[in-house]
Amino acid sequence: MKHIFLLLLTAAVCVLSGCGKAPEKKLVVVTNAAFPPYEYVANRKIEGIDPHIIREIASRLGYTIEIQDMSFDSVIAAVQSGKADIAASGITVTEERKKQVAFSLPYVVAEQVIIVPQTSKIAAGRDLKGKRVGVQHGTTGDMYVSKHIGEPQRYKDSAVAVAALLSGKLDAIVIDTEPAEVYVKQRPSLKRLSEPLTFEEYAFAFNRNNRELLDGFNAELEKMLKSGEVAQIIKMYKEAHSQSAGNVVVDANGFWNRMKQSFALNFLTAQRYYYLLDGFFITLQVTVFAIAIGLVIGFAVAVIRNMSEQTGRLKWLDWLCRLYLTVIRGTPVVVQLLIIYFVIFSSVDIDKVFVAIIAFGINSGAYVAEIVRGGIASIDKGQMEAARSLGFGYWQSMRFVILPQAVKSVLPSLGNEFIVLLKETSVSGYIALQDLTKGGDIIRSQTYDAFFPLLAVALVYLIVVMVLGKLLAVFEKRLKRNE
Ligand code: ARG
Repeated sequence: MKHIFLLLLTAAVCVLSGCGKAPEKKLVVVTNAAFPPYEYVANRKIEGIDPHIIREIASRLGYTIEIQDMSFDSVIAAVQSGKADIAASGITVTEERKKQVAFSLPYVVAEQVIIVPQTSKIAAGRDLKGKRVGVQHGTTGDMYVSKHIGEPQRYKDSAVAVAALLSGKLDAIVIDTEPAEVYVKQRPSLKRLSEPLTFEEYAFAFNRNNRELLDGFNAELEKMLKSGEVAQIIKMYKEAHSQSAGNVVVDANGFWNRMKQSFALNFLTAQRYYYLLDGFFITLQVTVFAIAIGLVIGFAVAVIRNMSEQTGRLKWLDWLCRLYLTVIRGTPVVVQLLIIYFVIFSSVDIDKVFVAIIAFGINSGAYVAEIVRGGIASIDKGQMEAARSLGFGYWQSMRFVILPQAVKSVLPSLGNEFIVLLKETSVSGYIALQDLTKGGDIIRSQTYDAFFPLLAVALVYLIVVMVLGKLLAVFEKRLKRNE
């Protein structure tokens, strides 16, 4: 236990101080990479018009970039809070957003358009009243529908909305022109209506306090706009997408052939299984270290609380522990994760795996603490008294007499907590960590197929939980034998 703790501490110091990294000027760029051709994940990298332009300008200004994928509704907040330097996400310039961030020069014009199934009777915006309309949460499409049509169905990314439209859960989607073009090309059963609902301009978003970067950036962007380079880049990606038309369609005949084709498409084509594999390791890493942190915190809190109860000492520490338990158990872990990422580490460029480990570790600690405290309370009072009368101090009695028995009795509940923790890490995608669940999401956003990616993700969790259960059972047996 001591070793694990030391290891974690060194890792933490390392991450925080950025050791091992050469000092370089790096820009953190945030996007929501389910918006082709502007940004999308391909070959395990984020590609598209926006990354291309940003990379070009950054290199001219002497920066390297790191692109992070997150939900679109967090992209502006990331820049505003200083977590990221630039948001490049096909962002439409709006008056409200101007109050939060500073925009670069606009680099392209766009519209909001409607996509519907080929067979749909919907022919224009006026037909949308009373229909199930899908949008991506926080986009201008969302704003338009909310204002002019009615409550939309809000999805985390547009690819999920497309999947919902395909499976008949929606009547229409309102979305930006270019992604709409890509989606209808990839899915011939969908069509795009010609009438545009809005006219917009895209720009890159910067923190309002970083005028210097913005000015430098704008100067280069202006050159690229004038020379036609930006137009060239946009054209290139649009063409690339029109060529790959139809590459995600399952068209085989017969149930098994379709299954086979769909399986290949979801996992084998473009080595998509890597998203699950990479995600699996991230999930494992986060869970293992979070369990370790949770155990350390949990045991400490349980002992402190018991000690204060038994001896009347450590009153203020006990109070602190109770505050910790109340706050952590009283708020959802996703919210805690977001607070730690966006608020506590707001202006530090910090490794997201580390943030997740800390967040889940702190969260789990609260539950472990109560489990262990229950275990301690279940040990007969006489044992402590006997130990004390043998001349042991409180701590020695705890360490050698009470805790070993308590641990044995709470092992099943602890195992349960580990299982819950493992599955809870599936919300890591909220801070753009590519864990197992997010890996499945990425595949889904590329193939618009829900069945295989979700099944695979569920299966992997199940297997891990079963292995974990086995390990715990073995451990329990060993402890019994030692009795
Ligand atoms: N242009 C729209 C907006 O700014 C949608 C952008 C969505 N971008 C994305 N990468 N998902 O609201």
